[in-house]
Amino acid sequence: MHPLEKRILLPEDLKPITSLQDYAARGGIKGLKKSREMSSEELIELVKQSGLRGRGGAGFPIAIKWTTVYNDPSNYKYIVCNGAEGEPGTYKDRYTIEKNPYQLLEGMLISAHAVKAHKAIICTKEKYTPIVKRISEAIAEFEQAKLIPEGYIELVLGPNEYLLGEEKAMLEVIDGRDPMPRNFPPFLVGARYTPTENNPTVVNNAETMAHLAHILRNGVEWFKSLGTDDTAGTITLSLCGDVKRPGMYEVETGLTVREALYDLAGGPVGKHPFKAMFSGVANRVMTPDLFDTKIDFGSMRAVGCGLGSGGFIVYDESRCMVAVTRLFLHFLAASSCGQCIPCNMGTRIMAGHLDNLEQGQGSMTDIEAIRLECGRCTNQTRCFLPTQAAVLCTSMLDKFPKEFESHAGNACSFPKEELILPKLESFDEETGQFTYEGKPLLVEQF
Ligand SMILES: Cc1cc2nc3c(=O)[nH]c(=O)nc-3n(C[C@H](O)[C@H](O)[C@H](O)COP(=O)(O)O)c2cc1C
Ligand code: SF4
Repeated sequence: MHPLEKRILLPEDLKPITSLQDYAARGGIKGLKKSREMSSEELIELVKQSGLRGRGGAGFPIAIKWTTVYNDPSNYKYIVCNGAEGEPGTYKDRYTIEKNPYQLLEGMLISAHAVKAHKAIICTKEKYTPIVKRISEAIAEFEQAKLIPEGYIELVLGPNEYLLGEEKAMLEVIDGRDPMPRNFPPFLVGARYTPTENNPTVVNNAETMAHLAHILRNGVEWFKSLGTDDTAGTITLSLCGDVKRPGMYEVETGLTVREALYDLAGGPVGKHPFKAMFSGVANRVMTPDLFDTKIDFGSMRAVGCGLGSGGFIVYDESRCMVAVTRLFLHFLAASSCGQCIPCNMGTRIMAGHLDNLEQGQGSMTDIEAIRLECGRCTNQTRCFLPTQAAVLCTSMLDKFPKEFESHAGNACSFPKEELILPKLESFDEETGQFTYEGKPLLVEQF
């Protein structure tokens, strides 16, 4: 283990925890027992004091969501664990669940106790078969150990679509429909709502919930002693792209991006220096002048970028930024469900102008048109997908104006290599490689 790593959610030796008994022998379930001795108010206050922020992308404080749902007078409340993990460049939820599904279930039950949930649901993709198996087996063990009544935690399997991870789309899938984000947020209209019951629901990312087991077991002061004041605790980073050592690294927040990319991931894999880093496809690009930024939600936001879900995709100087922007925009356009006009039209229009530029058939008009479309992507849509597209595109135009201008009417001068979007499928610890479409993800493929 590298000295900068700090394993809390991941087992120290990275060996998977294979039974509830083994988990309990390591101190597991203590947090759940402790939480069940507390009132909802006490538990919510404790988690508020811990400062735990959501790890699904936005860093929203979990205690605020809990308070809203707990205070709602509805008869039924739900908690939903978001295990969709569809963000390109991210693998942390599946990795931690493969290693230890028990802490996640423990966290879900702590959350359920806090808001007095009628039921807890975990939703992931049907195609993630290794974790589907691990979660199903762990639920059965919890039931056998009488930690929960049969059927209290339900596993729902969804389609392989990016939108499954959007919380309002996930609730639609849980309710038996397609992943099309609904109008109302989960705390207003939740899982399995009926004409008479709104079922306000807390949706949290899998990593967020796993932290709860450790906070309850070890205490607030312990949790706050890890990481920064802004974002206490650890975060599990997925590092991929033009780096020497791609991989999964759990670290305390507060590490700099430079430390993550050079010390953990070993720096650039080839002869070219780094050019750009993307924390998924939802944030502004980060260029090397900002690599001394601390990895926590506040610091990343303060420099105009975002932490996202801790999946960093890195490109070196040999990569064409117009091609990268086009790749990301095509993904977002293809992921749009089409319910909102600025998203349905805007993402496709942007992708089309990027096609023109990349193919050497574009002009300055295409660049202006992209900017215009970015301005039209307001946040008045059902979800943030088009805002993500606009934020990402604008940041690329701002950071790499000459590169875009040089594509106006000219063929691309960068080496022509296959660019793929790293939708990570698994991580092989022995070879240190991620896989994509069943094959090792080689650096030349990025
Ligand atoms: C297009 C889109 C895709 C998303 N995908 C995921 C995802 O795969 N996993 C996730 O936890 N959150 C995802 N989110 C964020 C969720 O909507 C939600 O904010 C999150 O699950 C809340 O959990 P947290 O508070 O623990 O971060 C996505 C959001 C958008 C707009
Ligand atoms: S913003 Fe886009 S992806 Fe989100 S609901 Fe509207 S059309 Fe669908």
